Amino acid sequence: MDLKAPRGTRDILPEEAADRQYLECVFADLCSRYGYGEIRVPAFEHTELFVRGVGDSTDVVRKEMYTFADRSNRSLTLRPEGTAGVARAYIEHGMSSWPAPVKLWYRMNMFRYEKMQKGRYREHWQLGCEVFGSEAPQADAELIGFLDSFFQALGLVGIQPEINSIGCPACREAYREILRDYYRPHLPSMCDDCQVRFERNPLRMLDCKEASCQALAGQAPAQLDHLCQACRDHFDQVKRALDRMGISYLVNPHMVRGLDYYTRTVFEFMSDNVGTQGSICGGGRYDGLVSQIGGLDTPAVGFAMGLERLMLEMEAQAIQIQKPDGPDLYIASFPETAADALLLTRDLIRQGFSLQTDIMGRSLKAQMKAADRLEARYILVLGDEELAGGQGSIRKMSDGSETRVSLSEIGTFLKGRKQADSQSGKPQEEKNG
Ligand code: HAM
Repeated sequence: MDLKAPRGTRDILPEEAADRQYLECVFADLCSRYGYGEIRVPAFEHTELFVRGVGDSTDVVRKEMYTFADRSNRSLTLRPEGTAGVARAYIEHGMSSWPAPVKLWYRMNMFRYEKMQKGRYREHWQLGCEVFGSEAPQADAELIGFLDSFFQALGLVGIQPEINSIGCPACREAYREILRDYYRPHLPSMCDDCQVRFERNPLRMLDCKEASCQALAGQAPAQLDHLCQACRDHFDQVKRALDRMGISYLVNPHMVRGLDYYTRTVFEFMSDNVGTQGSICGGGRYDGLVSQIGGLDTPAVGFAMGLERLMLEMEAQAIQIQKPDGPDLYIASFPETAADALLLTRDLIRQGFSLQTDIMGRSLKAQMKAADRLEARYILVLGDEELAGGQGSIRKMSDGSETRVSLSEIGTFLKGRKQADSQSGKPQEEKNG
């Protein structure tokens, strides 16, 4: 029996989980300062939501969804992305009556049946933001500015956005015909999928993964050169706002996003360090999605970032994430004092300190080793004598210096040391040993 984690999924062990927690915290903090509220939506939705929202001619819907029938024979799908579910929740909870803009952020796992490679998994995590209710180019620019601030907060450098505009339904209609005219003579040599795309949605031909089709896509006329006046003005204003914020960007007229809901601005933050597809983060405007899945006409814009790819980038740029500190105190005990050690540990944890004590029935020597391995800052050996006298010697692990402390005052002692550390910016050496 193969009881390993399924192909394309991975276990996140504590060390990596701590790194992720750090990234998520920085993200959540920035979200809250930019005025986003967190949203959590179900891991699966009715399949129809993704078919209609993401688009039935996209690879995501045609080839990558984990779709299953539940016991009542409903067709459900594990979310391959977050935007459709969040837009569904926006409609379901009447958020169009909330003061606009409605700004939501999320941290979700996504499921796509993709070929495994570096930075590409069948279950991956995204950090994302969605802004509903603003048509203004400032909303697009603010999001790109948000990402710029996020990368800066992490100490990442050199991650530049690529931006493009893929127009609105009005200018896109004309562009579809321009594309068909371009592709028509090449059609016989193109892949089977593109033969279908040519009729159904030639825009998706730009996104074909076949090498020969990709070469043709590179030469295809760009939507950016065929925008209507309103879309051109919108894009100019996005660029102007980015210029004003000092954000350098690359206009990439050939950028295609793999999901059908996009309109006007699309963007990606690229890097060579995160696998062949290279995008750490992607997003754009999707003014038609909410109405397409049954809501009111609602302009919207958002992005999502692959957490695994972000981690790869952090690693490639050698940015060390600070490891969590060891416990403030390790209480070593003997069989006859173990229960008191548990009690004292619990009380000090309730006071806000981090503590460990022996729950393995180890010898004193082994407990000392454990305290060392855990990088405890202090250790207290709790024996009968300490319990009877109500006092113990707290030893600083780094230099062996000892301080006599009343057992009921350990909290005050630890607090004092912490305060001294935070004032000096580093662990303070004891003066009196
Ligand atoms: P997406 O470009 O499909 O957009 O995915 C967003 C990010 O998720 C990518 O840039 C990449 O970093 C990461 N990602 C995608 N697939 C995988 C995978 N198989 N393994 C690891 N990482 C992956 C969306 O999903 C849109 N919902 C983004 C959005 C939000 N647009 C507007 N609002």
